[in-house]
Amino acid sequence: MNHNKIITIDGPSGSGKGTISQMVADKLGWHMLDSGALYRVLGLAAQRHSIDVSDEEQVAQLARNLDVQFVINRKNGEIEPVLEGENLASVIRTDEAGQAASKVAVIPSVREALLARQRDFYQEPGLVADGRDMGTIVFPDAPVKIFLTASAECRAERRYKQLKNKGVSANMRALLDSIKARDERDQTRSVAPLVPAEGAFVVDSSQLTISEVLTQVLDFAAKSFKDVNPD
Ligand code: DC
Repeated sequence: MNHNKIITIDGPSGSGKGTISQMVADKLGWHMLDSGALYRVLGLAAQRHSIDVSDEEQVAQLARNLDVQFVINRKNGEIEPVLEGENLASVIRTDEAGQAASKVAVIPSVREALLARQRDFYQEPGLVADGRDMGTIVFPDAPVKIFLTASAECRAERRYKQLKNKGVSANMRALLDSIKARDERDQTRSVAPLVPAEGAFVVDSSQLTISEVLTQVLDFAAKSFKDVNPD
């Protein structure tokens, strides 16, 4: 696999990774891997099959055989997951799906089962990979690694506004607690914990606009690609 054309963007939930990853992919005309969506689909699949997330072997079995496709919604251009024929677009972004994802994501055999599936997302002309362990585990030799973060309060506020805009009722305190709980689980798990990859460019977006973050990421990527492929 030609890992010269991969940008990994890792960071905690609500840091703006999804938005930035999509913008970088659009700008470069590259493909995009939303690895969190895979874990979310798996969490929802476990619920639908009444599999207890503490039953590691059953969840791993489900991960190995996960029947999921990602399709493009022609109306809004968004990528939507289809699990066993059911389109999950309306539930994939819920906090419940995020919590379920974070619980299945702590299981080492689950992460192992999803590894090849994530690497298969690589396609020419390049890939922007969004997640928690893209730069550390899934694409360790990617030439451009970004770690995007922001304070928990700032991320909770962004999520609150996002939900309000969608007409979904939300409680700021509950969102903050949920973000902190998920951070704790993602950062302290034994396998593939959320940490910046070696050599990652760390961007704290707390005080930055989306376009300022995008500029920093693209500038860093341009410089790194020049170093990888000097003319
Ligand atoms: O990025 P997200 O909020 O959609 O991710 C949902 C959960 O999935 C997150 O709490 C941790 C897990 N996850 C992971 O462990 N590794 C990834 N590469 C992506 C997500």
